[in-house]
Amino acid sequence: MTLPEGFARRMVAWQRLHGRQSLPWQNTQDPYRVWLSEIMLQQTQVSTVLDYFPRFLGRFPDVAALAAAPQDDVLALWSGLGYYSRARNLHKCAQEVMGRFGGAFPRRAEELQTLPGIGRSTAAAVAAFCFGERSAILDGNVKRVLTRVLGYGADLAVSKNEKALWALAEDLLPAQAADMPRYTQALMDLGATVCLPRKAQCEACPVITVCQAQAQGEPLAYPVKTRKLKRSSATLWLLWAVNAQGQVWLQKRPESGIWAGLFSLPVFESELEVLAAWPQGTAPQYITPWKHVLTHRDLHLHPVRLHGCAQSAPACEGQWVDADAWPAMGLPAPVRTLLMS
Ligand code: ADE
Repeated sequence: MTLPEGFARRMVAWQRLHGRQSLPWQNTQDPYRVWLSEIMLQQTQVSTVLDYFPRFLGRFPDVAALAAAPQDDVLALWSGLGYYSRARNLHKCAQEVMGRFGGAFPRRAEELQTLPGIGRSTAAAVAAFCFGERSAILDGNVKRVLTRVLGYGADLAVSKNEKALWALAEDLLPAQAADMPRYTQALMDLGATVCLPRKAQCEACPVITVCQAQAQGEPLAYPVKTRKLKRSSATLWLLWAVNAQGQVWLQKRPESGIWAGLFSLPVFESELEVLAAWPQGTAPQYITPWKHVLTHRDLHLHPVRLHGCAQSAPACEGQWVDADAWPAMGLPAPVRTLLMS
């Protein structure tokens, strides 16, 4: 496959003029900040991360502070960002950086990748931004940019094709390590602002003259990926037990499975089980069910609100929690919405 002429040079020049320059995780070579931002940005929009990132840094200013915190505090601060395995891995990663690396992030992508929650692309981003390592990133946005510019039509659901694209991404890196931070940011910026999934803004693209997809008149024909995400669905009955003081019965979820590690209303598979969990509860109120969409699963949520006194307690693990404690706890987004609305 012939590589687009001057790709890295064009990208770097474009980033200087048209890329994003002053996001709070740019203009720093602190791997803690860069790593934290990359994890947050994996599945969350920049506008949301702009809100969470400074708050998180305020509470956990460095990797030592994060490692030393209780997991519940980390999950609470993550609350609302979703994909909580990111927060659990973030915490574990901080502890490994302290334990295995004396509190200093390793400098090479290869070593960064051995840490919890750090995949190949995130490792490369941290190594490139902080240490100028010549290593390629390849997240969803970058796959789109590269498959288009290369006219790479092989099915990325096939792992050898994806692997070959990684190799091409390495071939396209700038020769000079000093260009790596800006080049890496250029790929992210182009994917996020110009080379968009359904409406490519080719007139604003710095590599339009060397783009194969553009030459074919088919910018949207790439990337090719056949396998459709298999979705499942589940029905969850939620016990919303309220006592005379207005406290709610919350339980800490197990470390794996849905909403792992968060505090939630107790979850049951059927209406009968909810009612049986608190026989002393009275006047069941059936909240209108709704669908909560997760990445791989639709959750059909059926909360049942029951009232009772604090002397009786539901027959499931949990504790009565005051309303003023809810905001600071790690609650699943739909449970938070339910309790706070
Ligand atoms: N998405 C992932 N990493 C990013 C970064 N460094 N800047 C903006 N968006 C991003």
